[in-house]
Amino acid sequence: MLSVRKTFIAGNWKMNLSRAESVKLTQALTAAFSADSAVEVAICPPSVYLDAVAAIVRGTSIGLSAQNMYHEASGAFTGEISAAMLTDIGCQYVILGHSERRHILGETNSTVNQKVQAAIKGNLTPIVCLGETLEEREAGSTGTVIEQQFDGSLAGLTSEQVAQIVIAYEPVWAIGTGKVATPDQAEEVHADLRRLLESRYNSSVASNVRIQYGGSVKAENAAALLTQPNIDGALVGGASLQAESFLGIISAAA
Ligand code: 13P
Repeated sequence: MLSVRKTFIAGNWKMNLSRAESVKLTQALTAAFSADSAVEVAICPPSVYLDAVAAIVRGTSIGLSAQNMYHEASGAFTGEISAAMLTDIGCQYVILGHSERRHILGETNSTVNQKVQAAIKGNLTPIVCLGETLEEREAGSTGTVIEQQFDGSLAGLTSEQVAQIVIAYEPVWAIGTGKVATPDQAEEVHADLRRLLESRYNSSVASNVRIQYGGSVKAENAAALLTQPNIDGALVGGASLQAESFLGIISAAA
């Protein structure tokens, strides 16, 4: 079956880089990335640098993503940022439910779900992250954990809404550890996610929603992962902080 899913590579900078470094990296990426690429690319700078980065990517084919947002539209929510604020400064995407937010900052499937709903309502494409810990994998509960995160994070969405999201499978044990999932390990979970999309929604949603893999993706291991039938892109952490390594992953995807 011919896939309609455009490969999507996103660079999650997390809480790294200065303003000057963010600008320099963005300039290097826009200079090297060609508009007619077969790959969709987005970068996800820290929120305080989104505006500076937006000014550089505007009019290029590099997309802009936030790393988080709050589900309320406005009001007394000190420190939080709304979907409307993100679209206002030029974001098209927002990462939601990243494992660091789930495990370090206390986000639950229910709070992730509120954010996913608000992001879609606010015309942002949510990159919804899920993934098991090492303990869960070793206990043989990867499938159950993924299913619970999937159902909880997407609760209440219509098929039309789910068709607009991107899913990122990020096994927690592979994030920032250098211990990448093997292509077979990743493909197994991606295929399960594809089956969940089909059973909970429909075959059109299942064949259109892109599922990125994240966790120690590098230029050297990207091609083996991205040639798996159900791996449609990558959510890259450490290797997205330097132009050369991030561009290497984009080349491997193309
Ligand atoms: P690393 O690529 O640094 O392992 O991070 C992956 C990740 O968490 C991307 O969101």
